[in-house]
Amino acid sequence: MAKPPLSMKPTGWFQVAWSDEIGIGDVHTMKYFGQEMVAWRAESGQVCVMNAYCEHLGAHLGFGGTVHGEVLQCPFHGWQWNQQGRNVCIPYEDRPNRGRRITTYPVIERNESIYIWHDIENREPFFDAPDIFASFGDGSSVEDYYPQQRLFEQGLEMHPQYVLENGVDFAHFKYVHGTPINPIFTRHDFDEPISYVDFTITFEGDDGQRIEDVSSGVEAVNGGLGIAVTKSWGMIDNRTISAITPVDESTSDIRFMVYIGRPGAEVRNPDRARVKAEEFGAEVIRQFRQDIHIWAHQRYSDPPALASSEMAGFTAIREWAKKFYPDGKGGSAAELAARSAQ
Ligand code: FES
Ligand SMILES: [Fe+2]
Repeated sequence: MAKPPLSMKPTGWFQVAWSDEIGIGDVHTMKYFGQEMVAWRAESGQVCVMNAYCEHLGAHLGFGGTVHGEVLQCPFHGWQWNQQGRNVCIPYEDRPNRGRRITTYPVIERNESIYIWHDIENREPFFDAPDIFASFGDGSSVEDYYPQQRLFEQGLEMHPQYVLENGVDFAHFKYVHGTPINPIFTRHDFDEPISYVDFTITFEGDDGQRIEDVSSGVEAVNGGLGIAVTKSWGMIDNRTISAITPVDESTSDIRFMVYIGRPGAEVRNPDRARVKAEEFGAEVIRQFRQDIHIWAHQRYSDPPALASSEMAGFTAIREWAKKFYPDGKGGSAAELAARSAQ
């Protein structure tokens, strides 16, 4: 295994939990971006994600901290902190400490996930997290799909960018996923922080067919490096969310979610349809595991030995990815050397 040479502190939206892991009054402990954090849900239902240590004497709020209405109370001396990380009560003083603040993170709850905005420069979010339904603008909603199926792998020695690069890597499908022929990309749009990739792909038939004759494919929307959503067409209706979040300087957690479309009301055997959908979802997850097996042991190659047909896609995605590295540690080695010599 090899430690990723890219910065593990990229900017963007990143998943830190699933919504159903944090009920009202729960305090959830986790570590991301090298920081101990807590996520807690107030009475109102609002989730707050903040650094874990109390600004008073440093107790870890995830070990005995309690939710009271809209504030989190420290287990050590009862100081209370609000959702902006401000101290609102010192129980044995007339007034709170207005100077100290616990770092909090912008939060979005969407598609049963909790996403935080991470930016080492503390800028406001400059793009929105993608939505597995709304991002495709097709009027679809969660009611059209069976319940979300999930994969969760923790502490893998990999970087979110490895996953995004799959979106231009047409040559891996045949070898990693067993497609009969290479897919072909029909859209690469890397102008904005939200990028778009479409490709024609088939998992059916043999290697005698021509990709031009295939009528199935995938559309992907990448919201920065942390979250990608996909939608299939011309095959079993499936959508996926992949979310990769750096934990520390060498590892990431990976979450992957699959939605399988419900059949119309006229379906004869709903139980059988549901079982089939679960099986198909498990197959999509199995295919994603095949990628993880590669990513978790890969050494990021920079500059890579690209075939000429790969040049445009990889160049575009690696250029795009630099938007998310405010510390500059996302460029090629040659570029970094030039920058440090300036
Ligand atoms: S350490 Fe949190 S109240 Fe004292
Ligand atoms: Fe893949």
